[in-house]
Amino acid sequence: MAIQENYPLRKYNTFSIDAFARFFSSFGSADELAGLITSGYNVNRQPLILGGGSNILFTRNYDGLVIKNDIKGIERVAEDAMHVYIKAGAGENWHQFVLHCIDHGLAGVENLSLIPGNLGAGPMQNIGAYGVELKDVFHELEAFHLDDKQIVTFNRTGCDFGYRESIFKRKHNGKFVILNVTFKLAKTPVFNTSYGAIEQELDRMGISALSIRSISQAVINIRQSKLPDPAEIGNAGSFFKNPEVPALLYHELKHRFSGLIGYVLENQQYKLAAGWLIEQCGWKGYRIGDAGCHARQALVLVNYGNARGQEIYDLSERIVESVENTFGVVLEREVNVI
Ligand code: FAD
Ligand code: EPU
Repeated sequence: MAIQENYPLRKYNTFSIDAFARFFSSFGSADELAGLITSGYNVNRQPLILGGGSNILFTRNYDGLVIKNDIKGIERVAEDAMHVYIKAGAGENWHQFVLHCIDHGLAGVENLSLIPGNLGAGPMQNIGAYGVELKDVFHELEAFHLDDKQIVTFNRTGCDFGYRESIFKRKHNGKFVILNVTFKLAKTPVFNTSYGAIEQELDRMGISALSIRSISQAVINIRQSKLPDPAEIGNAGSFFKNPEVPALLYHELKHRFSGLIGYVLENQQYKLAAGWLIEQCGWKGYRIGDAGCHARQALVLVNYGNARGQEIYDLSERIVESVENTFGVVLEREVNVI
């Protein structure tokens, strides 16, 4: 694709923020990517790699090269008695990939249905929902090193996955472009219906014989009832992570706030529901100009129309401050702020 100058990004981020890229292009292969980053348009700073723009907040224009990853393709690369290995291009839409797996009777990603964005961004923050994380089905990925211009393979250990974390958000932040991901999917499903309202929704749907398709549909129904659709109202899903706190702090808080929602983790820390903390501070449904805190899910910040990214960021600062003042807990942003 040709290089565009002063290119509007509103359609390329689900917050629908009006921001401009100094230069904009897209690539469909590692060779095209290599061509772009040596093109002379890669000025001022590292290029910004864009997938579906569903986990990004632009607080300003990007004074550099923004490149959209459009690498496509889904192929079955290996198989053993229990698993099928599927390699897919980073530019594939995540939910379409989930549907592809379901159509081919391959299990493991059904609980991750309807997460917006592209497949290549999945490992960046180890996407997760309804009791499953990408790391649970991850085999390996190939990524292009922007400085060395070499393709490197990362296995699961190499990605150092955590809760909404990976090595690509920490040590290798901004250094690699994920080209493709290989998943290890099960031929025989192990159903995971214990999280949240999945079982309740399956009952409501009248499902008696479980299948990966019915679980996918239950997750889709729950998500549609809770989360705002970015096509209708700009947002990037959960704006903050659910904070992890030491057991002592959890018990102190539980004593003071009996409604506190949290559960114990394997490392004996407690994970708190940030949505509840934010709601208790009175932010749920709050609106200032076109920036707001969603009325059904306080963890989701929204753009009602023409909010600037900085206004949404400023609102997030006020929320962080009030949650810290009330509970002594510091919220960390999940969304990538540019
Ligand atoms: P982008 O927003 O385009 O990029 C995100 C970050 O990854 C940026 O820093 C970008 O530079 C980098 N990046 C993107 N692609 C590549 C690549 N190929 N190589 C290197 N870096 C790259 N997330 C969850 O985990 N669970 C949920 O349940 C969930 N629900 C959501 C619901 C809604 C309504 C919305 C809007 C978002 C939700 N999200 C959720 C967040 C988001 O969908 C995921 O983080 C998704 O993986 C982002 O994909 P993307 O292609 O849009 O990434
Ligand atoms: N809650 C409130 N008030 C609110 C929102 C939530 O009290 O305004 C309470 C709920 O009643 C519930 C608890 O908080 O008891 C958890 O809420 P929910 O099940 O909606 O999930 P969440 O913790 O808010 C997380 C992920 C979502 C993921 C869902 C389902 C994070 C940061 N968010 O949300 O991921 O889809 O669980 O697994 O971990 C995302 O990352 O963008 C995202 C949407």
